[in-house]
Amino acid sequence: MKKWIWLFSCVALVFLAAACNGEDPNPDAGHNIDVPDVGPDADPDVGPDADVGPSCEADELKCDGDCIDPTSDDEHCGACGHFCEADFVCSQGVCVCTGGLEACDASCVNLDQDPLNCGSCGNACDAGDVCDGGVCSDTCDAGQEACNGSCVDTDTDIEHCGGCGQACGADQTCNAGECECTSASLTLCFGVCVDTETDNDYCGDCFTECGNNEICVAGVCEIDEPAGVSFSDDVVPIFSTCTGCHGASGGLNLSADPYDALVNVDAQCAGRVRVIPGDSENSYLIAKLEGHADICGSPMPPGGAVNPADIETIADWIDQGALNN
Ligand code: HEC
Repeated sequence: MKKWIWLFSCVALVFLAAACNGEDPNPDAGHNIDVPDVGPDADPDVGPDADVGPSCEADELKCDGDCIDPTSDDEHCGACGHFCEADFVCSQGVCVCTGGLEACDASCVNLDQDPLNCGSCGNACDAGDVCDGGVCSDTCDAGQEACNGSCVDTDTDIEHCGGCGQACGADQTCNAGECECTSASLTLCFGVCVDTETDNDYCGDCFTECGNNEICVAGVCEIDEPAGVSFSDDVVPIFSTCTGCHGASGGLNLSADPYDALVNVDAQCAGRVRVIPGDSENSYLIAKLEGHADICGSPMPPGGAVNPADIETIADWIDQGALNN
């Protein structure tokens, strides 16, 4: 009896899905169909790729495949795609003005000073009048200056510091009409706040620029020394490709005591010294390895070349004094 029921069900199903043989002839049929994510328990993330990318933390939203914090994201403030206009920043999921400014339409304005929004949004002062502390007036109070219809204190106003239109940088304050760096450890050099202890362009003061091979350390330009090179650890291993010949050949023994064979030793080439401590440029060893035009004989190794980084290591060792270290 059960067998008949099974068979009957299967025959009935053939009309619906032709699925009795285990194959799904129509992958989009039945539960596979794409149902839009709607209803009260729908995923709050919207957009075509809301499900793309990593899964997000509980207090995050997935917008365009990225997890964002909707309380502070200027592109997605409070909801995906809800971006804050230029002057505004996202705070607690709402686009707001900062720095004591008020939102008038799409701008953040200073109601105390804005001649187009003087005291309240849209309250424009008459032509020629100024906005003085939120009230339209024909003159500014003593100690204030009219800059584009705004009464400002050029002693302290960062947009008009020392005069109309002389704006200070974002990391600066206006004190007695002069821009100053907010951070006491920085120095204002030509409008930019820099750390003269470490800034290569302004080292020690605004006028000292370190050279290409120098770095600024504690306000002083110093030669940018490569890390100390060791003769035994760094240089001698490079000679392993040389000792096949330079045990007995070429009038140079690099296998027995390479240090004594090189440092302050005259080369076979007249007038040349193999290694001159502190002077890689005139050391014959480097001239041979780099194949300078003025060498005797051939560049080393004959028919080959030493990796430039290794030549650099040998040159650094020479320039650091060619120590037997
Ligand atoms: C195939 C054998 C061979 C190899 C390998 C070789 N050299 Fe030489 N080298 C010579 C010969 C021969 C001379 C002498 C003729 C000349 O100066 O060209 C010489 C000369 C030199 C000189 C000049 C010595 C002097 O006092 O004039 C230096 C320096 C030198 N080799 C360094 C090296 C270094 C470093 C290597 C490894 C990177 C190396 N050579 C690899 C054969 C070799």
